Amino acid sequence: MIGIGYRKDFAEEWYHQPELLNADFIEVAPENWMNVGGYWKKLLDEKLRYYPLFTHGLSLSIGSPDELDVEFLKKLKHFLNQTQAKFYSEHLSFAKCDNAHLYDLLPIPFTEDAVKHVSQKIKQIQDFLERPLVIEIVSYYSPLAAEMKEIEFINAVLSESNCLLLLDVNNVYVNSFNHRYDAKEFIQQLPKEKVAYIHMAGHLQIDDDLIIDTHGEPIIDPVYELFEFTLNWLQRPVPVLLERDFNIPEFQDLQKEINQLKYIFNKVLQKQKEYVA
Ligand SMILES: [Fe+2]
Repeated sequence: MIGIGYRKDFAEEWYHQPELLNADFIEVAPENWMNVGGYWKKLLDEKLRYYPLFTHGLSLSIGSPDELDVEFLKKLKHFLNQTQAKFYSEHLSFAKCDNAHLYDLLPIPFTEDAVKHVSQKIKQIQDFLERPLVIEIVSYYSPLAAEMKEIEFINAVLSESNCLLLLDVNNVYVNSFNHRYDAKEFIQQLPKEKVAYIHMAGHLQIDDDLIIDTHGEPIIDPVYELFEFTLNWLQRPVPVLLERDFNIPEFQDLQKEINQLKYIFNKVLQKQKEYVA
């Protein structure tokens, strides 16, 4: 199952020419769609007749010290119910402080206190929304006052909050490159039973030792290779989303990437079936 991030940039063209892009599901940021009506809602509703919806939030700001925004959560819950969203995912980061939006996704310090704070917040969110939250491993460029390793932090939050994991393979690749660790070793330490779905995206290498996670370039071969490794490690099929936020190319180029993901996905699945037989 390979999905595509649904963007206003191509919503109109896809509405008028649905045959130009084939995917198995769509993903939206609820913030971008839950307050729209009229024409744009009609475009989304048309896709929801054919495609299951996954959601990937932007502004929940799990890591910030602020109280949860109950009004936002109410609207969100309504949107998730109304669209029958399969998953609600968010970034393991913070985007708000003193209720001011920072317009970026900043890493949470890898500390015991942060594990407790974040896990408590995730539990509250899950209780309110009456569904599991799926948290995404984010890319980061400098760890803040770390008391533990990134992998320890993620695993502690997953176990304490009982939430699920959105494994962004590109983010793991970017972090492993920027912070000099082994991406495969990192993935193998994650709890595989918690992985709800996978993100795949492109990035931009701006220096010999620095990659920026842009979601604005095609996926590169080493990330496809890490994707294949991840599917083999998981030993079960999970949905995979192609995330493209900027520099959105023509449908035929998006389709090529979807097809490449599908090819690898089916290859691994076939191998696993043969192994079981
Ligand atoms: Fe992602």
